[in-house]
Amino acid sequence: MDNFTYYNPTRLVFGKGQIAQLASEMKPYGKNVLLVYGGGSIKRNGLYDAVKSELEKMGAAVAELSGVEPNPRLSTVKRGIQLCRENNVSFILAVGGGSVIDCTKAIAAGAVYEGDVWDLILKKAEPKEALPFGTILTLAATGSEMNSGSVITNWETQEKYGWGSPLVFPKFSILDPANTFSVPKDHTIYGIVDMMSHVLEQYFHHAKNTPLQDRFAESVLKTVMEAAPELLNNLEDYELRETILYNGTIALNGTLSMGSRGDWGSHNIEHAVSAVYDIPHAGGLAILFPNWMRHNVDGDVSRFKQLAIRVFGVSEEGKDDREVALEGIDRLSAFWTSLGAPNRLADYDIDDSKLDLIADKAMARGEFGNFKSQKKDDVLTILKRSL
Ligand code: NZQ
Ligand code: ZN
Repeated sequence: MDNFTYYNPTRLVFGKGQIAQLASEMKPYGKNVLLVYGGGSIKRNGLYDAVKSELEKMGAAVAELSGVEPNPRLSTVKRGIQLCRENNVSFILAVGGGSVIDCTKAIAAGAVYEGDVWDLILKKAEPKEALPFGTILTLAATGSEMNSGSVITNWETQEKYGWGSPLVFPKFSILDPANTFSVPKDHTIYGIVDMMSHVLEQYFHHAKNTPLQDRFAESVLKTVMEAAPELLNNLEDYELRETILYNGTIALNGTLSMGSRGDWGSHNIEHAVSAVYDIPHAGGLAILFPNWMRHNVDGDVSRFKQLAIRVFGVSEEGKDDREVALEGIDRLSAFWTSLGAPNRLADYDIDDSKLDLIADKAMARGEFGNFKSQKKDDVLTILKRSL
């Protein structure tokens, strides 16, 4: 293993009816609250009313930022910062999926930063403080509810970047599986692909002696693969929603990367595609990740082979290592397709006209990928294979 320090201060409040904990979780943080949410799903499923009623009981003064977009935009972050300043906000409550939470993280750091918040996202400056915030998660996918990362899009310049800081771990996150019942089928599928991709990004590393980490990761993948098809046939099954929700958090709260450094190249390429075409994050991953794997299988094949055998049940008989590995990749891609995920960029009407621009955006922070370093040519090859 690589040396490591593990730190995760987010209080995870999980289960049915856990919104009842909101008042006690918020107690230390003052009563001037900014409530942040998305395009209206929480108004349709009743969660908005439930949250407002809890906030009223607390005697909170509530300002609201609504309409946070999927792939949250810098312009919305700036609106949130302004609301924090105008209302002397002491605490932010994010109610939504990864986009709402990521936007909240940028608002939390930006509200107490004198310069331009985009500099924090570009990592030109580091946040020195941040407003405290908590989350009520409504979609199992990103893990943002229990990590310190955030991804923001500057639509004017067509840039989408991840950034992070230990200051933007949520103080608490309330996860009630019932709050995810209303997630439509397509976003349920994207969430499943996203959490599996997070596990895979962390699985591709060069650290030696990670037997427990490997089996943790393989267990998450197998558990998700077992529950996912059933869930898609029964979107309001509490136990299946519960299983998927818990897996989504574990997939990206640092647990799986203790002692190793994952790759994250597929995510970097996907963010570049989303920056230009504004497609759902994990729709892009379902297309790109198997092609990243096919492109990079030839370096160190052992991790691909182990994955194929242990997770996808590929038999070794009569095959060399590469054939075993490739069969595993094909099975991963076929599994995602069987759920209903896209598998070609053409599924989003993306043709070859802007591949060069996407590749340049993926290279904006230089060569990337900890398992296999990628240059512009690699990105172009992966994109072309994905058309
Ligand atoms: O906006 P509303 O109306 O709430 O609708 C949302 C949105 O349209 C809907 N939704 C969410 N909960 C719902 C619901 N609809 C009905 N019922 C519910 N309970 O789902 C749609 C997608 O929501 P979004 O928050 O965009 O999805 P997700 O959680 O997948 O977040 C995606 C964003 O997170 C970033 C992605 O790049 C993307 O910008 N990521 C963040 C990461 C992190 N912070 O650690 C890691 C990820 O790899 C990812 O890059
Ligand atoms: Zn992701």
